[in-house]
Amino acid sequence: MLYDLVMKNRSYRSFDESRKISREELLGFVDLARRTPAARNRQPLCYRLVHTKEECDTLLPLTGWASLVNVKLPPDGHAPTAYIVICCDTTIEPDITRALRDVGICAQTIMLAATEAGLGGCMIGSFTPEKVSAALKIPEKYRPMLVLALGKPDEKVQLVEAKDGNVAYYREGGVHYVPKRTLEDIIIK
Ligand SMILES: Cc1cc2nc3c(=O)[nH]c(=O)nc-3n(C[C@H](O)[C@H](O)[C@H](O)COP(=O)(O)O)c2cc1C
Repeated sequence: MLYDLVMKNRSYRSFDESRKISREELLGFVDLARRTPAARNRQPLCYRLVHTKEECDTLLPLTGWASLVNVKLPPDGHAPTAYIVICCDTTIEPDITRALRDVGICAQTIMLAATEAGLGGCMIGSFTPEKVSAALKIPEKYRPMLVLALGKPDEKVQLVEAKDGNVAYYREGGVHYVPKRTLEDIIIK
């Protein structure tokens, strides 16, 4: 059921490192994403797959995690075991802001596919594109837009109702709580 998949598809920031992710699994996720809608059907998005321990170790320190909580995430020994760096091919779409909506659609599609496969992860917008490109030797024409960190989640994430407009996520007793605005709050009257 789509409802269950969407509910399960939280942002996870702690992983069981014994669950490796193969290049074939990542290819399967991207193969799905390439079939989603694209503005003017230009399809400027390309993907850099990261799954070796060496490249995962290189990428992790270039990503920023959960700035709202004062906890080191992912915890040591609980890192993602793969990443997909969604890039915009600037020879197809030179104005990268035009690709942003496509990025969202593809990112969520990949995260849902990963969730269905028993995995999970976190979309990471906190990184410096030039540093990621240099570390992964991504050719200059590809602009990194969003990093998807993937792994087998080993933490509990719980949705709660946002109260008084407070949407800051927080951690308590090892559980990561995520306030969501109510339906009433988001329907324009
Ligand atoms: C475009 C985008 C960028 C994000 N960037 C980061 C990030 O850099 N670091 C991080 O820890 N979480 C990041 N997140 C995850 C959000 O913090 C998370 O979606 C939010 O707290 C709600 O939690 P949920 O995904 O479990 O509903 C990002 C999410 C989105 C959609």
